[in-house]
Amino acid sequence: TTNRTFTMIKPDAVEKGHIGAILEKINSAGFKIVAMKFTQLSKRDAEKFYEIHAERPFFADLVQFMTRGPIVAAVLEKENAVEDFRALIGATNPAEAAEGTIRKMFATDISENAVHGSDSDENAAIEGAFHFSGREMY
Ligand code: CMP
Repeated sequence: TTNRTFTMIKPDAVEKGHIGAILEKINSAGFKIVAMKFTQLSKRDAEKFYEIHAERPFFADLVQFMTRGPIVAAVLEKENAVEDFRALIGATNPAEAAEGTIRKMFATDISENAVHGSDSDENAAIEGAFHFSGREMY
């Protein structure tokens, strides 16, 4: 059945001018954009969004990275959206990501990895609602 996932084009990919190429890959893979914005996360936003990683050694660096410049946040719709989008972006570490995946093509390293993709339907709903009100999804 058709469902949704949530993505961010992270500051590294925005800085390098990859927004257009990444959106093209997303559209070509059959995802429909139902919400989208260009925005910058505050420290508080990033700490809240990544709170499940709060105890990880990379947490402070992750918050610093995700707040250093603007991002593109979007809600995407497709059959099997969460799983298919994770296949499209590839492994967290671009060195391990499959050929042709967004991270293989555009990520810098395991921390500056170009894009976010929700890991479950439940988190997709939580993450989408973190960035968008119901009236901003079309
Ligand atoms: P993502 O999987 O979207 O969400 C958690 C983020 O933490 C991950 O992308 C990376 O941007 C970042 N990160 C930094 N270091 C690591 C690491 N060693 N393992 C996993 N994620 C990391």
